[in-house]
Amino acid sequence: MKKIDISTYINKIKLTSCIMNASGALCTTDKELSDLLNSSSGAIVTKSCTKKPRKGNIKPRYFEWNIGSINSMGLPNLGIDFYLNFFQNKKIKKPIFLSISGLSIEENFFLIKKANFSKKITAIELNLSCPNIKEEILGNNLYKISDFLESIFKFNKKPLGIKLPPFFKEKHIKNISLILNKFPIIFVTCINSLPNGIFIDINKENTVIKPKNGFGGIGGLIIKPFALSNIRKFYTFLRKDISIIGCGGISSGKDIFEHILCGASAVQIGTQFIKEGISVFDRLKKEFIIFLQKKNYSSINNFKGKLKNFQ
Ligand code: SIN
Repeated sequence: MKKIDISTYINKIKLTSCIMNASGALCTTDKELSDLLNSSSGAIVTKSCTKKPRKGNIKPRYFEWNIGSINSMGLPNLGIDFYLNFFQNKKIKKPIFLSISGLSIEENFFLIKKANFSKKITAIELNLSCPNIKEEILGNNLYKISDFLESIFKFNKKPLGIKLPPFFKEKHIKNISLILNKFPIIFVTCINSLPNGIFIDINKENTVIKPKNGFGGIGGLIIKPFALSNIRKFYTFLRKDISIIGCGGISSGKDIFEHILCGASAVQIGTQFIKEGISVFDRLKKEFIIFLQKKNYSSINNFKGKLKNFQ
């Protein structure tokens, strides 16, 4: 049987498998990160961290149903020092992406500076799209994001990418791409959860999570069409050396194929990872390889970005 290669590059960073976890999904604690280190995921992204540890929002703050999830976690994390120290003495065989989500511009500067000192961190995923905090989400503010990136790249030497919120209009994706194209960012991750949905328990006639009166970010299968459309549009408008990491609605090998066909170079698994646990990476890898065998593709470069219009 033909050998199928599912390795990939995020800009110049090599991943032996294009499948990794999404920030926030089982990547907060020592145990969760150790499991990821020992798993078949192609890379690891940490929970988005802040300067100090945070407990996050009041519980219940996560709920899942058959085709989706809703969360308002509020960035519970153990603080940047924990994540930097965790990797310090470990033998690491895959790229490590430190996700950071400072609650202010100054906090983000601090976090990026700190990450720059760690040799174990391969790249920074700057999360500008958490929908569950009261502070402003910079990913939606085109004016501020440009100045912000300008300041970051005066001192930052680490490979850096940005986790973006979902956009619903072509002009918004075009405008943000024009800004991102001016800076040496190496990837974007799209999409973060769809902000401010509600899920209802019809028996109790109430919301299923407590923070923000039940409003939260929607993830899982239900958001896949929006993830795909964002990947597709960013693939059109971004510089070709800016890789796209697809995130949203992946629960099968076929879903991975769709993300890559739209232009993603790698994919992240969130809701399905939380649902299924660490074995999800072996299962998805197997399903994806079998799917590519059937399609007679030997590597993801055979079809990456090659989505055709209806004819
Ligand atoms: C959270 O901690 O609230 C989720 C993080 C995110 O959506 O960026």
